[in-house]
Amino acid sequence: MTDRYVVIGNPIAHSKSPQIHAMFAKQTGQAMSYERLLAPLDGFADTVQRFIDSGGRGANVTLPFKLEAFAFANQLSQRAQAAGAVNTLIFDGDRIHGDNTDGLGLVRDIQANAGVAIANQRVLLLGAGGAAQGVILPLLEQSPRSITISNRTLSKAEDLVQQFTHPALQACALDALGEAYDIVINATSAGLSGELPPLPAKIFGAGSFAYDMIYAAQPTAFMQFAQRQGASTRDGLGMLVEQAAASFYVWRGVQPDTAPVYDSVRAQS
Ligand code: ATR
Repeated sequence: MTDRYVVIGNPIAHSKSPQIHAMFAKQTGQAMSYERLLAPLDGFADTVQRFIDSGGRGANVTLPFKLEAFAFANQLSQRAQAAGAVNTLIFDGDRIHGDNTDGLGLVRDIQANAGVAIANQRVLLLGAGGAAQGVILPLLEQSPRSITISNRTLSKAEDLVQQFTHPALQACALDALGEAYDIVINATSAGLSGELPPLPAKIFGAGSFAYDMIYAAQPTAFMQFAQRQGASTRDGLGMLVEQAAASFYVWRGVQPDTAPVYDSVRAQS
């Protein structure tokens, strides 16, 4: 029987994940299906349970349910615990295993695809919500010289620094940022409404690499601002494809080739 997977969210109609996983499955010869599953805003757990009861093997979880998926799992990976959120569920008998591949997706896209090393670099992480928290552990594992977390609400950045208690981590107010960083990652949700966080131009130098975790057909406002200061830029489409590949690996034990899938999704967006 074909193993069944879904991506659960609300809204879900525009998710590119089914397209991405269909390409991975074809490429690797895996017999599986992967569909969209819309859960009511107040019905995540019921929807997942019905899918499990009908024989589902695993699920990706997207907005706004990553915290509920974290609570729903009865077993968590270390990276899901650090992220405080789950984007990948594995169902095996009574076991509901929660994992999080978002941070690994970001790290792979920066290092393997963009060719930018993180080791020894000064990283500025903008934002202190779920998206930021999800990438801190995988970034720290690459041994950056420092990770500065900056956020409109400074106390939330300070809370994250406290939570991870790592010597490379520090918090800084947006208006107190005073130097250029090697890597600047936008993990705020400002861009979703076309906004730009109030950033000092001097965080970017000619050698800076600016990464926006959201993606769009056109360069985002954050990328345009970074480009004007001489930085090179990349959007989050590669992170989307890489986190999908990491979930695929968790489920199937096979690592798909992401480059042709990235090109195909980019061409269609
Ligand atoms: P997500 O899961 O996408 O991280 P979130 O947990 O709601 O969503 O966090 C959103 C992040 O984007 C926060 O860091 C938020 O800053 P605050 O903590 O000050 O709210 C940030 N953010 C959203 N809109 C922003 C804007 N217009 N300018 C600057 N930061 C913004």
